[in-house]
Amino acid sequence: MARYLVTGCAGFIGSWITQALVERGETVRGFDNFETGHRENLSGFLDRIEFIEGDLRDQAAVARACQGVEIIFHQGALPSVPRSIKDPRTSHTANIDGTFHVLEGARAAGVRRILYAASSSAYGNQPGFPRVETMVPMPIAPYPVQKMAGELYMRSYWQVYGIETVCLRYFNIFGPRQDPNSPYSGVMAKFALQMLHGQQPTIFGDGEQGRDFTYVENAVSANLLAAAAPAEKVAGRVFNVACGQRHTLNQTYKVLAELTGFHQPPVYGPPRTGDIQNSLADISAAREAFGYEPSISFEEGLRRTVEWYRQQLKQ
Ligand code: UD1
Repeated sequence: MARYLVTGCAGFIGSWITQALVERGETVRGFDNFETGHRENLSGFLDRIEFIEGDLRDQAAVARACQGVEIIFHQGALPSVPRSIKDPRTSHTANIDGTFHVLEGARAAGVRRILYAASSSAYGNQPGFPRVETMVPMPIAPYPVQKMAGELYMRSYWQVYGIETVCLRYFNIFGPRQDPNSPYSGVMAKFALQMLHGQQPTIFGDGEQGRDFTYVENAVSANLLAAAAPAEKVAGRVFNVACGQRHTLNQTYKVLAELTGFHQPPVYGPPRTGDIQNSLADISAAREAFGYEPSISFEEGLRRTVEWYRQQLKQ
């Protein structure tokens, strides 16, 4: 019987968490429908987990996946701000119904703790940097609203049913296995691959928008630390998971261009609807509650990421 369940185990962040648990010798069940995840993300450890191919929108399948589990990492979602603007209903059902199904499955199965992949987009465009968890959320596009609804549901299930829910607000996570091929791909994955292919990336807006880009292994360590922390430190709470530094897209473009040996300037296009302008986190709450440290820097993360995409292209 598996002790841990990872939803979205074949996705970018979910596969990293799954792998880290397997490498620690834990028993893991993974749940994914391969809508945005990929089987290759599980290569090397698929035979060491109990894998269930299923959809978060299928309440019965989610309920079965929760059986016998002690801790859930709920990473499964349909991400992307622009996707949610184009087709709000599809991402609504995956993100809100899906999260509700996980909570209900957990309640029925007596799951002790849920780590929830929340989003820094919850802060919206309000003034005040760095972002602190006590700020009033002001999500703009449907996707941040959906992720925020999940947070409120998480807190409710702690207060009402005593499930130790912990929300980790991810700030632009990047790294190996992030899908570069979808129109909704994260900017790092997209730009790295385009540059390696010799194609000129497009920056939406003037490129002065900033993000607290965070390498994926930092997010994994936040998850594992929060999973192991005493309930009185984390249950029912929300934490920023970030690096604590802001980089503009123009700066990021330069570093990526150097790493990939790409010599052309970007194309500048119109700004993207629903985008936030800036993002920068205060990470002291996660530091204090469970000893989180972003040990892999922005630059080192970028180096590892570009190296990985380079290897992928060779294969
Ligand atoms: C990202 C995550 C989202 C997460 C949020 C908060 C992705 C796909 N989205 O949203 O899940 O909740 O951070 O941490 O990882 N851009 C370009 N050119 C491109 C693509 C993007 O200029 O070809 C720009 C966008 O307009 C935006 C910035 O790059 O200003 C970042 O975009 P993106 O990577 O899509 O992430 P977020 O929207 O910040």
